[in-house]
Amino acid sequence: MKRIIIFDTTLRDGEQSPGASLDVHSKIEIARQLVRLGVDVIEAGFPIASKGDFNAVHKVAGVIKGASICALARSIKADIEACAEAVKSARRPRIHIFLATSKIHMQYKLKKAESEILKLASWAVGYGRNFCDDVEFSPEDASRSDRDFLCKVVEAVIKAGAKTVNIPDTVGYAMPIEFGSLIKDIKTRVPNINKAIISVHCHNDLGLGVSNSLSAIENGAEQIECTINGIGERAGNASLEELVMALDTRKDIFKAVTSINKKEIYKTSRLVSKLTGIVVQPNKAIEGQNAFSHESGIHQDGMLKKSSTYEIMKPQDVGFGGTRLVLGKHSGRHAFNDRLRKLGFELDDKELLKAFERFKSLADKKKEIFDEDLLAIVDDGIVSIPETYRLEDLNIISGNKVTPKAMIGLKKGSKLLKKSSSGDGPVDACYKAIDAITGLKFKLLDYSLKSITGGKDALGEVTVRIKSNKDEVSGRGTSTDIIEASAKAYMNAVNKLIFNRSRKASL
Ligand code: KIV
Ligand code: ZN
Repeated sequence: MKRIIIFDTTLRDGEQSPGASLDVHSKIEIARQLVRLGVDVIEAGFPIASKGDFNAVHKVAGVIKGASICALARSIKADIEACAEAVKSARRPRIHIFLATSKIHMQYKLKKAESEILKLASWAVGYGRNFCDDVEFSPEDASRSDRDFLCKVVEAVIKAGAKTVNIPDTVGYAMPIEFGSLIKDIKTRVPNINKAIISVHCHNDLGLGVSNSLSAIENGAEQIECTINGIGERAGNASLEELVMALDTRKDIFKAVTSINKKEIYKTSRLVSKLTGIVVQPNKAIEGQNAFSHESGIHQDGMLKKSSTYEIMKPQDVGFGGTRLVLGKHSGRHAFNDRLRKLGFELDDKELLKAFERFKSLADKKKEIFDEDLLAIVDDGIVSIPETYRLEDLNIISGNKVTPKAMIGLKKGSKLLKKSSSGDGPVDACYKAIDAITGLKFKLLDYSLKSITGGKDALGEVTVRIKSNKDEVSGRGTSTDIIEASAKAYMNAVNKLIFNRSRKASL
């Protein structure tokens, strides 16, 4: 297995996304997370661009220890000096110098001849080496540069001391086959190429940033430059998470590893999205909200039988909560019944048929069907849960200076059973007293309270989800008294669980 160096440029090229400006605190927070993610190099900014960016790079270099800290400079004395000053306190500093080599950039932007560019590139790298051992050089717009000239520049900058030569597809113009063969060509034609690491930096103007980077790896690239969520100038850069997961999922092809801790991927994506304000599109590979969601009945059925039918990665591997089977009009009976079971309802065939018909007619009107909708469907006359235990008495002592205490009376048949208990709050005390009466032990997974009418005498609705061994059920209760609503919801769930167990035993 070859080792691919991950160069993250979220804080530099990523910050060049229109509208995404990161202050120094945000840059440090992201850089810390990038270290937890395990990137090798963090490009922290472009120090000459502003005082603020200089300070941000300087701060990142001073406090971040787990990765090389790099910054960008044009082939200009003042840029290189600012860059060197900003990264100098890093444990492993790197200066990244660039100069365009394509005809179009040389003629219209730089107004310089090839011979001048060749000289300037060598000079800039040599000048950078006065400050730092680790200098990277990028011939900007390499993929549109004349091949012979590009090879000459690469050879010259390595001779001048560049340790890494980065080949950018600056405007996202290259096709994967073409970009792969460019890397191969450089590797075969540049005589001193073995003295440097060959890197790639691919933009996404035609949506090919990741494909071009992978093609470069197949042809000998050893470092990839990428960003979290694929943010960056215009349509963005190759996405780090897509590259890493492609290499990992298709090890059979690439035979390459990275230092990335995959479980940190989702967390990093959320953080970058929050701090840059750039939302991740729902269908984005790896970390979009729909990346591990399934709606069609055929897919949901397959997923319930074996997840590898429709998932090539496990969501947990990238730190994502889990697979989501979205109930909607395309869902089938298998997924519907599975969700009902999770909510604690074991329906017989007739009940299931009736409930499924109601579900389908609701799904025609509503895009996504939530658990509360399912509860309403089955609660509405499909199954009636016998009240094994009925709440009869409820007395609470609570206040800011007393330990909350609950005295509960439950009716079981004609018997009145009473217990009292203290707890961390009145609801906790109440649930403990109920457990003491039923002799059953539950784990409270979820508790939510909402008001369903307005005003001082509003009706409160409590929904709870409880678990005992493998059984999970939810219950609902309403009252103008929220403690009573809480007790009723708990009793509803307890009775449901007792009912399901007795039905399962008799099936
Ligand atoms: O896209 C590009 O060419 C760049 C260089 C500065 C590496 O961002
Ligand atoms: Zn770029």
